[in-house]
Amino acid sequence: MAVYQATATPKPKAKETPKPKASLANGVQSLSIQETPKVKSKNIDVISEFKKIKRKNAANFVVIGHVDAGKSTLMGRLLFDLKAVDQRTMDKYRKEAENIGKGSFAFAWVLDQGTEERARGVTIDIATNKFETDKTSFTILDAPGHRDFVPNMIAGASQADFAVLVIDASTGNFESGLRGQTKEHALLVRSIGVQRIIVAVNKMDVAEWSHARFEEIRQQMSGFLTGAGFQPKNISFVPCSGLGGDNILRRSSDPRSSWYKGATLVEDLDLSEPSTHALDKPLRMTINDVFRGGVQNPLSVSGRLESGTVQIGEQVMIMPSGEKAQIRSLEVDDEPQEWAVAGQNVVLNLTDIDAIHIKTGDALCSATAPIRNVREFKAKILAFDHLTPMNIDVHKGRLHVPGRISQLVATLDKASGAVLKKKPKIVQPGTVVRVVVQLDEAVPLEAPSRVVLRSNGETVAAGLVE
Ligand SMILES: *[C@@H]1O[C@H](CO)[C@@H](O)[C@H](O)[C@H]1NC(C)=O
Ligand SMILES: *[C@@H]1O[C@H](CO)[C@@H](O)[C@H](O)[C@H]1NC(C)=O
Repeated sequence: MAVYQATATPKPKAKETPKPKASLANGVQSLSIQETPKVKSKNIDVISEFKKIKRKNAANFVVIGHVDAGKSTLMGRLLFDLKAVDQRTMDKYRKEAENIGKGSFAFAWVLDQGTEERARGVTIDIATNKFETDKTSFTILDAPGHRDFVPNMIAGASQADFAVLVIDASTGNFESGLRGQTKEHALLVRSIGVQRIIVAVNKMDVAEWSHARFEEIRQQMSGFLTGAGFQPKNISFVPCSGLGGDNILRRSSDPRSSWYKGATLVEDLDLSEPSTHALDKPLRMTINDVFRGGVQNPLSVSGRLESGTVQIGEQVMIMPSGEKAQIRSLEVDDEPQEWAVAGQNVVLNLTDIDAIHIKTGDALCSATAPIRNVREFKAKILAFDHLTPMNIDVHKGRLHVPGRISQLVATLDKASGAVLKKKPKIVQPGTVVRVVVQLDEAVPLEAPSRVVLRSNGETVAAGLVE
C-alpha cells in the first residue's frame, strides 16, 4: 500500500470558500474542487501499525447492582487505592462529606462529580472513569442504581466487556436487593451480550466476615446467574469492603476473613481476557455525545469504536442522515492521535458537516460500507415482562426510537437457541423469544447490536439484533 506524507496540511478556513458556479464548461472542475479533501489522509495501514505497538490490554466494564449496594463507594475506593485520585482531592471530599454528616459518601464522590448528586447521595449519570493496573487500562462505565435511570445504564452496558455486580452482604439487604435491581441488572447485561461477571460481595465488614453468609450469597447468585445464561467459569465472587478497602487492591487484614484465599477484586479484574474487537470490519461507532469546543472549533463527537479503524483525513458517514464528514483530528483517551481502532474511546473532530445532521445516538460509519437504515428488524430477546404484540421504545446505547413488537416468531431454548414454540400469543417473563420489531422512523441498526425494549418507563426485554 502506498504511504505518503501529507505536505502542509491546509487549515480549514472559518469562512466557506465560495464554490465556482456550476456550468457545462466548468462542471467537471467544480466537482473536483469540491471533492478535494481539506485534510489529507496519510493512508496509514492502521491495523499493521496497531499490531506493531506493544500495548496494555484495554477493558471497559459496567458496575451494576441494587441502589444501596455501595457501588460508588467501592469504585471510588478502587480509584483511590490505584492512585487514580490524589490524596489531596480525597481529603477534600472527606472533609466536605463530614461537614454534611455523610462521612461514608467521600469515596462515592470520586465518581459523582455534580453537587446535586452528592446532596442526594445517588449517582444519576454515567461518569466515565479510567484507571490502570500493570496489565490493563480500564474504563469504568458507572451505572446508576435508581430505577428511573435504566436508560443510562443501558448506554453504559452496551459498551461493556464485562460487568461488576455489587451486592450488599449485610443481613436483609442482600434479600431486598434481589427483589430490587440485582436480578434485573444481571439479566439485562447478560441479554445484551455481556459474558463475564465479577460479583463483589460488598460490606463484608458489616456482615462480620461471615464465611457462611458469603457461601449463602455465592450459592444463590451462582444458581441465578447460570440460569440467566452466564457460563460458570465466567462468574467469580470476591468478598470485600469498599469502605474499609478490604480485598479491593490489598488483601483484607481482618482476622475474621482468613478463610478467603481467592483473588482480590483488582486481581480478578486483571483476568479479563483481551477483548477481540473486530478491527478488519467496517468502521462503526454509536455517538455518545456531540459537542463544539467553541464557535471557531470543529464539531466533535465522542464514543467507543465498535469495529474497524479510523484516521485523520478519512471520510465517514453519519446515519440516519447519510451525510458525509471528514475527520480533522482525533483523540484516544484524551490524547491527540493520528488513528484509532475498535475498542478505543475516542473524540473525533469533524469538518465538512453541519451540526443539524448529527445527534446523540446516531451511528458514525465507514462512508464506503455504511450501516443501513432499517424500519424493521428481527431480534432474539429475553422477556422481563409479559410480551405480546405491543408498542415499545427501542434503545441501543444512546439511540432511542419508538416502535412496536409486530410479531412473536417463536420461543427459544435459553441455552441451545432451539425453537420451542412457534407463534406464541403471549410470552412469560424469563422467556427467550425471537421477535419482529417495526420502527416509527428508519434508524441505523444491524446484527449483532445490543438492544433494550422499554414500555411505560420499564425495561420489558433486552437482546441482540439478528
Ligand atoms: C465466557 O465463556 C465463553 C464460553 O465458554 C467463552 O467463549 C468466553 O471466552 C468467556 N468469556 C470471558 C470474557 O471470559
Ligand atoms: C478536538 O476538538 C476539541 C473541541 O473543539 C478540542 O478541544 C481538541 O483540542 C481537538 N483535538 C485535536 C486533537 O485537535
